Amino acid sequence: MTAMKPKVLVSYKSDNFPEDVADKLRPLADVVRVSGDYPEQLRDAVVLLAAGEKVNEGFLAKAPKLKLVARFGVGYDAVDVDACTRHGVYVCHTPDVLSDAVADLTWALILGWMRHIPEADRYTREEWGKKQKGFPFGWDMGGKTLGFLGLGRIGVEAAKRGRGFGVRMIYYDVVRRPDIEAQYGITYVTFEELLRTSDIISVHVPLLPTTRGMLSTKQFQMMKRTALVVNTSRGPVIDQKALTEALKAKTIAGAALDVFEVEPTPLTEELLKLENVLVTPHMASATWETRRKMAERCAESIKAFLEGKRPPFTVPEQKNVTF
Ligand code: 8YV
Repeated sequence: MTAMKPKVLVSYKSDNFPEDVADKLRPLADVVRVSGDYPEQLRDAVVLLAAGEKVNEGFLAKAPKLKLVARFGVGYDAVDVDACTRHGVYVCHTPDVLSDAVADLTWALILGWMRHIPEADRYTREEWGKKQKGFPFGWDMGGKTLGFLGLGRIGVEAAKRGRGFGVRMIYYDVVRRPDIEAQYGITYVTFEELLRTSDIISVHVPLLPTTRGMLSTKQFQMMKRTALVVNTSRGPVIDQKALTEALKAKTIAGAALDVFEVEPTPLTEELLKLENVLVTPHMASATWETRRKMAERCAESIKAFLEGKRPPFTVPEQKNVTF
């Protein structure tokens, strides 16, 4: 009798985890895509390719065989790493490979808001030919101050792109990056100075207990009335109700958001009704090339683990841990 292969459960839409990448794991594992009863399928899974689901004590109790959670993404705020470590479960993620795509979308949001691209698109289709109304003017990038809240992997890529636009770049982070400051001409400032002097504030911090609600009423009141807030990180870093109020009261000029407190954002959400907001559906890493690289990075970790090695790309908290 041949031994059963360990089960790799792919909890994500199939187009994000290409079949040919899954095939690379098949000599070592049964690769199964979630369909139907998730808890039932989870029960004998040894590896989970996790989308955004909360992996906590309760979840682990339903997955007694689980040994590796491969997060399909760089952010792992939905995974309780301490609980996983207690249960001897590795947590891997996909750093680096998506930084370019997220930085690109950050700039698409900045430019899209500054030049009113969604309104201009609607105007061109519906109004231009009628010659009755003019189109909305935007704002120059040159001379603006761009403040990065967080200068990790993604913030650095976004800053790299800023050099061509003639903006003054500043950042605040708990970790200072003198190498990056010199290389990309970006100046370290305090959190308060960032809030007070930026024309555009772009959020690039991970979601942690210390960053949750980092931008709320008090912080919006410190910003310029012309300020634009951009978020491609995690929704809860911004207090969404406070942001909605600030946008309605014109305490700040606008927001360009790829992430929200609740996703998918309910269509009834007041924020979605505001004109000074540009929104996208948490799609910063969603390019064909990047999603493939993310899948390959997950597969690399899974394959190494199935071969009895320590998986690469474990989260920093498990850097020195071997189960
Ligand atoms: C993905 C992300 O959309 O990398 C992350 O942390 O938020 C995005 O790249 C998401 O992880 C898909 O599961």
